[in-house]
Amino acid sequence: MQPRRMLDPGLGGYETFHADAFEWLSHADPRSIHAVVTDPPYGLLEYQPKELAKLKAGRGGVWRLPPSFDGARRSPLPRFTVLKPGDHARLRAFFSRFAELLMPVLVPGAHVFIATNPLVSHFVYEPFIAAGFEKRGEIIRVVKTLRGGDRPKNAHDEFPEVTVMPRSCWEPWGLFRKPCEGRVQDNLRTWKTGGLRRPSTHEPFRDLIRASPARGEERRIAPHPSLKPQALLRPLVRASLPLGEGVILDPFMGSGSTIAAACACGLQAVGIEANADYFRLAQRAIPLLAELPDQRLAGTRHAGSERL
Ligand SMILES: C[S@@+](CC[C@H](N)C(=O)[O-])C[C@H]1O[C@@H](n2cnc3c(N)ncnc32)[C@H](O)[C@@H]1O
Repeated sequence: MQPRRMLDPGLGGYETFHADAFEWLSHADPRSIHAVVTDPPYGLLEYQPKELAKLKAGRGGVWRLPPSFDGARRSPLPRFTVLKPGDHARLRAFFSRFAELLMPVLVPGAHVFIATNPLVSHFVYEPFIAAGFEKRGEIIRVVKTLRGGDRPKNAHDEFPEVTVMPRSCWEPWGLFRKPCEGRVQDNLRTWKTGGLRRPSTHEPFRDLIRASPARGEERRIAPHPSLKPQALLRPLVRASLPLGEGVILDPFMGSGSTIAAACACGLQAVGIEANADYFRLAQRAIPLLAELPDQRLAGTRHAGSERL
């Protein structure tokens, strides 16, 4: 673990640490982080060295290698239906520890945006609530994946009208808040947190964002198996600091896409990644992803411009 350092609030920019998130959080200064936007390992198994080796060798394991679809080759997706009761208990323990270590590091009123999956979101949400966070809703990312929608395995012809699970068209992001000190207006004045930033003065931040999987230039810059698109992350990081002041943390930064989104929005961020290869990838990718202009980010409609 590298020595703990924090951003100088006057300097701006970002810092990254090649470290274990739990170790880092247990040494971080109390009340030093103003928001969290993160995409943790949903099922834990998928980022274990054994499963990463199988992914590299194209042998699947927990990673499902999808067939070509509409002529396009899709990236592997982790399968959460293979998780067993022991895995569930480990998931709960992981997110309990995360929520408990995070709580003291956040300022009052800090928001946490945490990516998950409909099959495992309860293993994330319950520990956050048990640790004292308020659930403030969910952000729904509308995205077509290749998850679910299949007919029964090896019995397609026998049951042509049956789908075993729905074809997933959305991704949930849990939204939590550390309780405010006093009223929201008091908390905003003291800690600069407690609310969410509006896309503009006349539009509220909305909880529905359409954002396709990252492709093309973004994927070439940051070939991480769970790369999240800038088109999603930029509106999220922007919303996470209601006054545009403070430090955003991504303790599971992968290729650093959240940190890049914060840079693109002129916000300060700290990123942590335990895997050495992904940490090196983030070092290279962050400045390049941050430079991509909004107009070059395909397949998006930001919540701010969405009319429902
Ligand atoms: C779902 S990926 C994040 C991908 C990221 N959103 C992106 O766009 O590149 C989760 C990351 O957390 C990392 N990770 C898993 N356990 C960790 C831990 N205890 N501390 C820090 N990083 C961890 C994994 O190596 C993986 O890169």
